[in-house]
Parts: sequence; C-alpha cells; structure tokens
Amino acid sequence: MLDLGRRLAGLLRAGDLLMLTGELGAGKTTLTRGLGEGLNVRGAVTSPTFVIARVHPSLGDGPPLVHVDAYRLGGGLDEMEDLDLDVSLPDSVVVVEWGEGKVEELTEDRLQILIARATGDTDDDVRRLTVTGLGDRWVRADLDALKR
Ligand SMILES: Nc1ncnc2c1ncn2[C@@H]1O[C@H](COP(=O)(O)OP(=O)(O)O)[C@@H](O)[C@H]1O
Ligand SMILES: [Mg+2]
Repeated sequence: MLDLGRRLAGLLRAGDLLMLTGELGAGKTTLTRGLGEGLNVRGAVTSPTFVIARVHPSLGDGPPLVHVDAYRLGGGLDEMEDLDLDVSLPDSVVVVEWGEGKVEELTEDRLQILIARATGDTDDDVRRLTVTGLGDRWVRADLDALKR
C-alpha cells in the first residue's frame, strides 16, 4: 500500500481530490503515508482523527498534501473552510478518509479508492483495491502506473 501510494503520487497535481473508503484498518492511512513520501512533503502522515485535517507542506516546489479525516465533520467538506488551514484546497492535493456522503457535492472530479481486505485469503496483508476516476480530470487519465 505504501508503494502504491508512492506511485499514485506521480499522477497527482494541485487541486486533485482523493476519497479513500474502507473499514478501520483497511490501509487508508498507510496509503496516504506512501502518498506523502511520493509527494515529498514534510511531517509524518498519521491518522488525522483528532485534528480533522493536517497540512503537510511540500519540501520541494510541489503541492502540499492535506490529509482529512471527515469522520467528525458534521456537514460537507465545505466545513473545511472553517478549519483555518493555511493553504487553499485548489492549490493542494486533498486526501479524505471517511468522506462518503460528504465530498461528493463539492466536486465532480475525484479519484475514489475502495480498499477491502481480500476475503477468502488467508494472508491478512492482502488488500483488494477498486480505483474509480470521476469527472473530466480523471475520465481520460492513464492509471496504468498503478498496476503491477
Ligand atoms: N497490504 C496492507 N496495506 C495496508 N495496511 C496493511 C496491509 N497489510 C497489513 N496492514 C496493516 O493494517 C493496518 C492498516 O492501518 P491504517 O492504514 O491506519 O488503516 P485505516 O486508515 O484504513 O484505518 C496497519 O496496521 C498495517 O500495518
Ligand atoms: Mg486512518
């Protein structure tokens, strides 16, 4: 999942929104950690549960990574405006955990990643991912870099 995050980072640019779906322990934060490495941003990516959103500035000249745990956002992602982040979302790569029902209204352009533990597999480390690109941004995007 870390490796996938690193490769996915190569496809991303400012303004992109990723929505990560999967049960607790699925690997959403682990994937985001790989993204942080690939985007070369500052700070350790950890679960943002107690801060709602954490901004990781770029160590180079790339976009910052904004890591959101939408679980405690009552309304939609527009509530993020009230969080006083010192970056603007259109200038950032925004990754949202637990965003179902909250981010869809905000933008038609988003990459949805559904993470499931592979059922019937005895190896607890195996994850099955469904990646769906929505909107103009993603409809023609080449996601082959994500395959092995
Ligand atoms: N293939 C895998 N991908 C991601 N995490 C894995 C994998 N196999 C085992 N794990 C473990 O599962 C847990 C995933 O936790 P985390 O990324 O915080 O999940 P989430 O953010 O979805 O709740 C970690 O303890 C990690 O070590
Ligand atoms: Mg998490």
